[in-house]
Amino acid sequence: MLCKNRDFGRLDIEYDYEAIAAELTSASLRERKAKDIWRYEELLPVSQSFAVRLGEGGTPLIHARRLGERLGIKNLYLKDETRNPTASFKDRAMAVGIAKAVELGVKDVTTASSGNAAASLAAYSAAAGMKCHAYVQEDASMGKLAQLLLYGATTVRCGQEKEGEDATVQEMLRGVYESGYYPCPSFGPFNPYQVEGPKTIPFELFEQLDWDDVGAIFVPTGSGCLLTGVWKGVRDLKRIGLTTSYPRLVPVQPRGNRALTKAIEKNLRFDQVVAEAYPESVASGLLDPFPWDGDAALEGVRETRGAGVWVDDASIMQAVKELAAYEGVFAEPSGAAGIAGLEKLLGEGLVGKDESVVVLVTGSGLKEPEKLIGLYPQPARARGGEAHSRMRRKSGVRLKYRGAS
Ligand SMILES: Cc1ncc(COP(=O)(O)O)c(C=O)c1O
Repeated sequence: MLCKNRDFGRLDIEYDYEAIAAELTSASLRERKAKDIWRYEELLPVSQSFAVRLGEGGTPLIHARRLGERLGIKNLYLKDETRNPTASFKDRAMAVGIAKAVELGVKDVTTASSGNAAASLAAYSAAAGMKCHAYVQEDASMGKLAQLLLYGATTVRCGQEKEGEDATVQEMLRGVYESGYYPCPSFGPFNPYQVEGPKTIPFELFEQLDWDDVGAIFVPTGSGCLLTGVWKGVRDLKRIGLTTSYPRLVPVQPRGNRALTKAIEKNLRFDQVVAEAYPESVASGLLDPFPWDGDAALEGVRETRGAGVWVDDASIMQAVKELAAYEGVFAEPSGAAGIAGLEKLLGEGLVGKDESVVVLVTGSGLKEPEKLIGLYPQPARARGGEAHSRMRRKSGVRLKYRGAS
């Protein structure tokens, strides 16, 4: 699966766009029953006959009216990726990765991950009857670790020892070279298939918006797999004529890990990108020291005339609160970072208030409740219905209890 030179070059998948344009039209899509990622099978690199389906994709696009009003944007939309089967967007990548592994007859899969991609791979490989060997960051959250253990993955937590080192990737490669495991991380240089899965995010959101133009898409970014998928997706749509213009793609990174957004600011080439020495942020999913898919991600930002934005941890936590309080969407910090990025760029006048803006909300708050519970004072405790009767007295409401007869 890896390039023979082991130089991590990009192997891209080409499609017959002319033939696909004839098949995949807005009219033909209206006739399709599938609501998951396999709805767009022609633009995926594996047949759905190999798919292990857990309900990946088909997530809601929420018109965020209240938050939009607060920010002064009429058409603000949230693509709510927390609704995927393992509660993050990574299910789109891993559903494709496992379908390909099924086709190839693979028995052992491995991954390097901050936690969400590994949890997702573990779920899909469990359902496919494969063994999953997961290398995750040392401080992966309880929620993600619990998923990994319950889905039956052999899980190793990896600590960073050297500046800029991606310890999870080093361990994964050992498993590939020494034990022959099939590499199935979300990012592309180790296996080209998974990165095709997140293409379905733009496919869905444009279809949900009835193929209208979108001004910008905000993408929480670590390794750049998601951004690459979104870029490839908007490019595919234009190539088959379902859209005519690109939305500006905007990667959002935390201040403590921003190799990609620095490269955008300084107009660097990918071979000039320097890994962050010791990444640090509350957004654990955005902590890959090196943007492994940075080549394609940079191309996407430049071709779409996008921008990069970094945000500090306080604004990420503020975004978590706002998503919950204004829109009822419960995100982990990495998942909410896109909102923090939008607020920062709005302040800089880089987003038009009249355009449609889509923010990807990429992972559920239930993954990391330990980080969120302290954001507000803890709830009061009461015994023997005391609090309830106090509330009743206060509101003047009388409840009549009807016991079971
Ligand atoms: C919730 C969440 N959002 C965003 C990302 C960033 O995705 P990528 O590594 O593809 O840039 C991750 C990565 O793990 C994640 O878990």
